[in-house]
Amino acid sequence: MPKPISTKLSRVSYSAIRRLFEIARQRPEVLDLGIGEPDITTPIHVVESAKKALDQGYTKYSPNPGFPELRQAIAEKLRRENGINADPTREIVVTVGGACAIHFALLAILEPGEEVIIPDPGFVTYAPCTLLAGGKPVYAPVKEENEFRFKAEDVEPLITEKTKCMMLNSPQNPTGGVQTKKDLEEIANLAEAYDLYVISDEVYEKLLYDGAQHHSIASLPGMFERTITVNSFSKTYAMTGWRLGYLVAPEHIASEVVKIQQNTIACPPSFAQIAAIDALKGSHQHVDDMVKRYDQNRRIIVDRLNKLGVVRCVPPKGAFYAFPNISGLRMSSAEFAEQLLEEKGVAVVPGAAFGQRGEGYVRMCFAQQKAVVEEAVERICEFVEEHS
Ligand SMILES: Cc1ncc(COP(=O)(O)O)c(C=O)c1O
Repeated sequence: MPKPISTKLSRVSYSAIRRLFEIARQRPEVLDLGIGEPDITTPIHVVESAKKALDQGYTKYSPNPGFPELRQAIAEKLRRENGINADPTREIVVTVGGACAIHFALLAILEPGEEVIIPDPGFVTYAPCTLLAGGKPVYAPVKEENEFRFKAEDVEPLITEKTKCMMLNSPQNPTGGVQTKKDLEEIANLAEAYDLYVISDEVYEKLLYDGAQHHSIASLPGMFERTITVNSFSKTYAMTGWRLGYLVAPEHIASEVVKIQQNTIACPPSFAQIAAIDALKGSHQHVDDMVKRYDQNRRIIVDRLNKLGVVRCVPPKGAFYAFPNISGLRMSSAEFAEQLLEEKGVAVVPGAAFGQRGEGYVRMCFAQQKAVVEEAVERICEFVEEHS
């Protein structure tokens, strides 16, 4: 018998979302409100740019933190849209998706045993990445009565001497919650008072409804020094399969992330980086179109579900997820998702996949064609009526 392998993954489980993804892929008749990605393909000018880049020989390694031209374009975007002034040569690192940026940020800042306060429910990789980096996840509730915002008053009681960092995500996966500027100021005050870092995951920044606005915490006074801002091309440019994201951090952190990058992935794909420059500089019409369509889908889901009475759905203000409360149905979120798939051929994700406080909810991704959402919602309503 060979020696046992590392136990550090024993507390990490496979993603429940990936499992659903596989089922939905094998059953094309399933109406898929499971996996979280835009329904459109990458805008054509970005695809053409990548093809041209391949023809021009962008098939080799790039500098470890990414091509300088892309980092420059990101710096301009950050200044223009986010109020963040970052030096592209020292404070921006292009990564393999936002997921990699989150992982590398945690590896760079954590000592063994240090605590990271993460939203519960929250994006599935925060806790596993904290554990892989030797840290300890501490779960802060994001509450339905607060429209699923990450509130300083829910975070402060959890801060200990070991707390190193707060994980912020607005607009939020899985709830669609959006932090107000005041929420961010209160989180910033905590960060300063207790000397904490903030990792601010802003990958859904462009997907906003009902007049909600996105603010970057790194733009608040004194916060750049203690914030790692994470962003991605995946959602805004429908580039989930290209694996391209970035992080923005003060030099003492960004330089350590470059070391991790040098010794792991080397660099993100070169031709994809060239196309990303054109994504940032080109037309954003597709974003307006997506937001308009997803807003319609969002209203269909919220209105129909709330009419049922037994299900309660807070209107999400951002991202492309609804997070209805199904606790009136006397079944767990996993039972709801499994039986809905079995009986009605609709895929949703159990809220418990996003943390203990996600139990009693399910996540429905409405980044879909309107007809798919309409049909899926009808079937969900039938299902709820049959089980209540
Ligand atoms: C909140 C959040 N952050 C980060 C990511 C990672 O995205 P990617 O690695 O594709 O950039 C996702 C993907 O679903 C997400 O929902």
